[in-house]
Amino acid sequence: MRLHLNGLRQSTVGHTAIGLWRHPDSQAHRYRDLDYWMETARILERGKFDALFVADALGPLDVYQGSVDAALRDGIQTPTDDPLLPISAMASVTEHLGFSVTVSSTYELPYAFARKMATLDHLTKGRIGWNIVTSALDSAARNLGLDRQLPHDARYAKAEEFMEVVYQLWEGSWADDAVVRNGHVFVDPARVRPIGHHGEHYQVPGMALFEPGILRTPVLYQAGTSPVGRAFAGRHAEGVFLSAYLPSMARTLVEGVRAEAAKAGRSGDAVKFFAIATVIVAETDAEARAKLADYQRYASVEGALARWSALMHLDLSTLDLDKPLEYVETDGIRGMVELFTTLDPSRTWTPRAIAEFVGVGGGGPVIVGSPATVADELERWADESGVDGFNIADPVPPVTFRDFVDLAVPELQRRGLVRTEYEGGTLRERFYGPGVTRVRDDHPAAAHRFSD
Ligand SMILES: Cc1cc2nc3c(=O)[nH]c(=O)nc-3n(C[C@H](O)[C@H](O)[C@H](O)COP(=O)(O)O)c2cc1C
Repeated sequence: MRLHLNGLRQSTVGHTAIGLWRHPDSQAHRYRDLDYWMETARILERGKFDALFVADALGPLDVYQGSVDAALRDGIQTPTDDPLLPISAMASVTEHLGFSVTVSSTYELPYAFARKMATLDHLTKGRIGWNIVTSALDSAARNLGLDRQLPHDARYAKAEEFMEVVYQLWEGSWADDAVVRNGHVFVDPARVRPIGHHGEHYQVPGMALFEPGILRTPVLYQAGTSPVGRAFAGRHAEGVFLSAYLPSMARTLVEGVRAEAAKAGRSGDAVKFFAIATVIVAETDAEARAKLADYQRYASVEGALARWSALMHLDLSTLDLDKPLEYVETDGIRGMVELFTTLDPSRTWTPRAIAEFVGVGGGGPVIVGSPATVADELERWADESGVDGFNIADPVPPVTFRDFVDLAVPELQRRGLVRTEYEGGTLRERFYGPGVTRVRDDHPAAAHRFSD
């Protein structure tokens, strides 16, 4: 098996595809229903996906026209529900599917957060992952106790200390044999220790409140692309989510993070890379193209501008819709700005061009065709970029997931590109093979293991 597949969602109406909630087949508005999430999990497990990746945002998208109105009209990441809460329900109707959930190191407290993830490690039996984000929205900062957000690199510095604390709680506070349950004693107090953390941002003198889970440290994902973000990913990430439109651009990111991982003393296969892809598949190429054209009719240019204004920290409504976008250094998603301005030298990137381009496919390629055509293209993309797999988006949920699982997966399986059966029970085993449930020895969390 060569390619790993994750599903990509956020608990909201408009995520990668903007405006498509208006399509009559879309169930996007059902993000508040547990049934919707359980159905999604079952579909992905039927397709033998590694995991469902759930994105998140902690503030409304209010940069475009200095207002949240455009984001509200299209339901773009606003409203959005908490990504952790549907996971237990999805775990209860699946056996193998993993869950990679986005949580911000900037706004959580590590002591409470470590327990939430350990609880999900217990309840999913080792199928939980964490997408570590530092958060880039000023609106989140304002509503979560700050006047304005911390500068970009300071958020990563704080995240570094956050990781120190959670590693100690997950790996170092409880010995594997701490729980004895021998009829007299439940936990041997000598086998549980306080972590004694006294840092710049966090004071955590005490012990972890929870028993270690199967994974101890959840499987760690990251998606930063700035220099400091890549260095952070190289140190900590086991999975990296990429947003790139061309395989060559993905390759640059893959090589950049691999180099950082090597600098951090980690082995060449320590980090796996997953690129966003939107796949529109039907029995024939012509039917697939017609399906895409049908979806494109619902794409919202204003909504896309509202989303990308927030991502880029730049009010695109102040710019001429049809004038080329100059390179702009923002404090937010520098990687994203770079992505567009260097994407395609033959193309003139205006705000309108960006909006039309991302309408259906969000942050990645739109791959359209018959099962054979999309399998060819996914294979080519992986060969040329060096990614280990894809985050498959769901622009018309859950129809696009279902189409992918029913049509594309059998073809990918026939070619031996994706698994036909699950191997190993936990999410980390999907990365490193059966039996590897804990972080590997070359991961920084391993340095915090409980030792006698
Ligand atoms: C593919 C991809 C997915 C992301 N998903 C989220 C997300 O769900 N929530 C979030 O707050 N940030 C998300 N981000 C933003 C990154 O985590 C990161 O905070 C941002 O890119 C800024 O860091 P950087 O300057 O190092 O790129 C995502 C970025 C990429 C490229």
